[in-house]
Amino acid sequence: MKKIENQILIIFGASGDLTKRMLLPSLFELFVRGLLPERFLILGTARSSFTDKSFRAHIKEKLREFVKEKEKIDDFLPLLFYQVFDPEGNTDELSERVMQLRQQYDIPDHTIYYLATPPSSYDSITRYLRESRLMRSKNGWRRIVVEKPFGISLPSARELNRCVNSVFSENEIYRIDHFLGKETVQNILVLRFANETFEALWNRNYIDHVEISALETIGIEGRGKSYEGVGALRDMIQNHLMQLLAFVAMEPPATIDAEAIRDETEKVIRALRPMTDNEVAENVVRAQYTAGTVRGEAVAGYREEKNVAVDSGTETFVGIKFFIDNRRWSDVPFYFFTGKRLKEKKSEVIIHFKSAPHKLFKGECPGNSCNQLVLRINPDEGIRMKFGLKIPGAGFEVEQVAMDFSYASLCKEYIPGAYERLLLDAMSGDSMLYTRNDALEASWRFIDPIVNYWEKHRNEDMLYYAAGENGPDLGEKWNVSSLEPTVNQKKCTR
Ligand SMILES: NC(=O)c1ccc[n+]([C@@H]2O[C@H](COP(=O)([O-])OP(=O)(O)OC[C@H]3O[C@@H](n4cnc5c(N)ncnc54)[C@H](OP(=O)(O)O)[C@@H]3O)[C@@H](O)[C@H]2O)c1
Repeated sequence: MKKIENQILIIFGASGDLTKRMLLPSLFELFVRGLLPERFLILGTARSSFTDKSFRAHIKEKLREFVKEKEKIDDFLPLLFYQVFDPEGNTDELSERVMQLRQQYDIPDHTIYYLATPPSSYDSITRYLRESRLMRSKNGWRRIVVEKPFGISLPSARELNRCVNSVFSENEIYRIDHFLGKETVQNILVLRFANETFEALWNRNYIDHVEISALETIGIEGRGKSYEGVGALRDMIQNHLMQLLAFVAMEPPATIDAEAIRDETEKVIRALRPMTDNEVAENVVRAQYTAGTVRGEAVAGYREEKNVAVDSGTETFVGIKFFIDNRRWSDVPFYFFTGKRLKEKKSEVIIHFKSAPHKLFKGECPGNSCNQLVLRINPDEGIRMKFGLKIPGAGFEVEQVAMDFSYASLCKEYIPGAYERLLLDAMSGDSMLYTRNDALEASWRFIDPIVNYWEKHRNEDMLYYAAGENGPDLGEKWNVSSLEPTVNQKKCTR
């Protein structure tokens, strides 16, 4: 890891949910592990009225909810400061406060801005930064971390980029996608490129199809206002599942560095075959949850949630069958699945290998082949390789069994949370796990035709599923297993 220089982190949106649930608990973990630079402070800003003292008291209470080593919270709090700031207001108090803190704590002119605010405020915040003294630096650096959603379409993503690019150059912009901060996602590159066994088979000659899923049991958690009109496609697939896909399908990068990895990411997303209206109708399924029972608890349907229209056309589930038009993957079907209020919470990648060319044995395995590689991103992070085994006894009957690796078995290793890893990377100037603009635009070019088709056919093709079930009925159409419940290896009870 690159050396982390002394610096100031300024969080816009410090009174919000993301700051209290993810950012400050992750910074606390870095503090506890001694990973923060020697001279470092966090300046929170928002329009809400706090002083340093009341902000620390507020955060102390929140940290008690979210962190384990509660006895160290008081040692962390002195790193926190707060400045009331309204980007629409005509005041320079924020930059004066930054200058004063920098001088008082002898911190060099290195600053990270973290935008934990709604995208509607990016224009006014970046305008403020451009016009204030904060961006003027003779020998320091400036970086900006930008949260999802990065647009709701290609034109809106370009507009947000225009705002941020008017102040920062591309190499100073860190578009965060917390999926890339997960160890299990980064491990996909190691699994593929450090193990010739897998890489030799990782192509259209041996792989039949690939499924990538992120299934949730939670609903929209009171976020009706921001979820309506966005939906599962733009909330999960355009960003998180697209990044997962890139790691699964990319060509080997020449080196493991930010530009090489991000070049390959962009190339594979650019190679996604865009869909015509007929192909969207054929290859995309959207659905909404209705009232049901999740883990024994009765829950409302999507249209009964607060701030959701009674005739809402927003999907809470999407399945997409798609293709990557390049030499490695030509004609191999890929599938994305994501949904809320499903029976089981899990994110995984399932690589289905082709079946043996000649079936010698009775029974064989369910589906096309005995061989699947399951990369479990969450929960029970790990890898499962499935293969056929002879059932003991007479004859040659085959049953599918599995070899399992679980990250939990590495119990001595500390596994950093996704935001911890990504914050540390931004602080050290490593953008490898952050999304570059060209990949972002390429992903919108794939997503936009689907949204445009749905807008023309409002609710016509919407399917429905009861909360707590495995999702909508996909019929005979797709031979996939992502929505099936996880079956663990049988244990011998004798
Ligand atoms: N929460 C999550 O888990 C999560 C996960 C991924 C991405 N995100 C993204 O992160 C961003 C923040 O999410 P959140 O859940 O923290 O939202 P939130 O709870 O509504 O907080 C929004 C924050 O932005 C500030 N804010 C709102 N409008 C502003 C404006 N015009 N100018 C300056 N500050 C403004 C608010 O403070 P004041 O009202 O006091 O100014 C508040 O601190 C959103 O873009 C969201 O999509 C959130």
